[in-house]
Amino acid sequence: MCGGPMSSIEPFPGFHAQSSVAPHRFPSTFRFGVATAAHQVEGNNDHSDWWDFESIPGHIADGSRSGLACDHYQRFRQDLDLIRALNLDSYRLSIEWARIEPEPGRFDRAAIDHYAEVLDACRERGIEPCVTLYHFTLPQWFAARGGWEASDAPALFARYVQTLMPLLASRVALWVTLNEPMVYLYQGYLLGIWPPGRHDMKGMVRAGRNLIRAHLEAYRILHDSPGFGGEPPQVGIAKHLRVFDPAREGSRLDRFAAKAQEELFNWAFLDSIHQGRFFPPFGLKERIGGAMPAQDFVGVNYYSRGRVQFSPARPGQLFGVQGTTPGAPVNDLGWEIYPEGITRLLRTVHRRYGRPIWITENGIADASDRLRPAFLVHHLTQIARAMGEGIPIHGYFHWSLLDNFEWAEGFAARFGLYAIDYQTQCRVLRPSGQLYGRIAADHAVSSALLEQYPLMF
Ligand code: GAL
Repeated sequence: MCGGPMSSIEPFPGFHAQSSVAPHRFPSTFRFGVATAAHQVEGNNDHSDWWDFESIPGHIADGSRSGLACDHYQRFRQDLDLIRALNLDSYRLSIEWARIEPEPGRFDRAAIDHYAEVLDACRERGIEPCVTLYHFTLPQWFAARGGWEASDAPALFARYVQTLMPLLASRVALWVTLNEPMVYLYQGYLLGIWPPGRHDMKGMVRAGRNLIRAHLEAYRILHDSPGFGGEPPQVGIAKHLRVFDPAREGSRLDRFAAKAQEELFNWAFLDSIHQGRFFPPFGLKERIGGAMPAQDFVGVNYYSRGRVQFSPARPGQLFGVQGTTPGAPVNDLGWEIYPEGITRLLRTVHRRYGRPIWITENGIADASDRLRPAFLVHHLTQIARAMGEGIPIHGYFHWSLLDNFEWAEGFAARFGLYAIDYQTQCRVLRPSGQLYGRIAADHAVSSALLEQYPLMF
């Protein structure tokens, strides 16, 4: 489309040879897919809090605004064809609350119908949808009355979810209630670089407790509705998990700070919805109520590792400053590339929760596509390895189908298997997209690919 694929795949030069090149196979039931989020791709999401936030100079690193984004709201059929063209059978997308309920209590039937159409268009193409109900953006009216901090926020979220059910419940088997709640809380309430732009630990705790309650409400509503094919739906959250290692292995203080950050960032939210108690910082393990564990699967979003150095000057960040491993490859945003990290985290998720796992996001900002092929080969190899250890991983959604609006980074960060020319809206397949399509078709990372892209480090 618009000029076809970019030049074909070439070996990545900077990687050293690896001894074992046995192929890594995935079971035939394993699903390969891609992920997007409404605000980042749809365009004209003008009733959302992010739309306002972007309009303030200095908020978006490259000065861009989401605007028409990828025009996915109009072009979804064509984009679903692009998914199918890569032999993928799954698509994680999100529903935009700000479109469904642009004013309090006024639900837009046309918007709900739109998402029903998208879901039907997925199935017509043999694509299994996975639907996220909240992916960082809120209706402006909801944000203006206190956002997630308002005491009735979970009830309002529940009303939105309930309203979707008559039309959408029977079309979806896999639901993600919340995307990356801890990322949202960090960025929005500690670092203040996303809406609501605060530096407020207490506000973060209030919002966090309500996000936990909101998930529990949505979990119950989804389970009270007949799912796809009359089966009970699978419901979970997409949790951003990061490896936290000490900057200096020998330093007890670094190890302490890394561990504290890991507990808070990786596990507090998941522990809370799994055990039905508010874990610190959200509470002192007091009971919440409802059926537990309130997750049928754990959705893992994995990107990178942080090396944590103890810093007494940073109590707000649990006395740790994050950096990268010296000399490690990094993506265009400076995030360390560490494929083995996903296996380490998957082992912990399996041990802690014992639930089925979906990789709900994994990807790389790499405009030149120099690193993405090796990134894909080695992350998928690690996932196959974890499955070989008996960890029940059901599928993989690569972030992302298309370049898109990367929040406070704007359009400069390019995560797509398809590159976009935002002037013309042309989508052009990157070599890594071609490679991912081949892996999906083979259901294996072949020995040839492992030889072509030997292990980094
Ligand atoms: C995740 C997020 C996505 C996307 C991705 C790449 O944290 O869920 O929306 O932005 O990171 O940074």
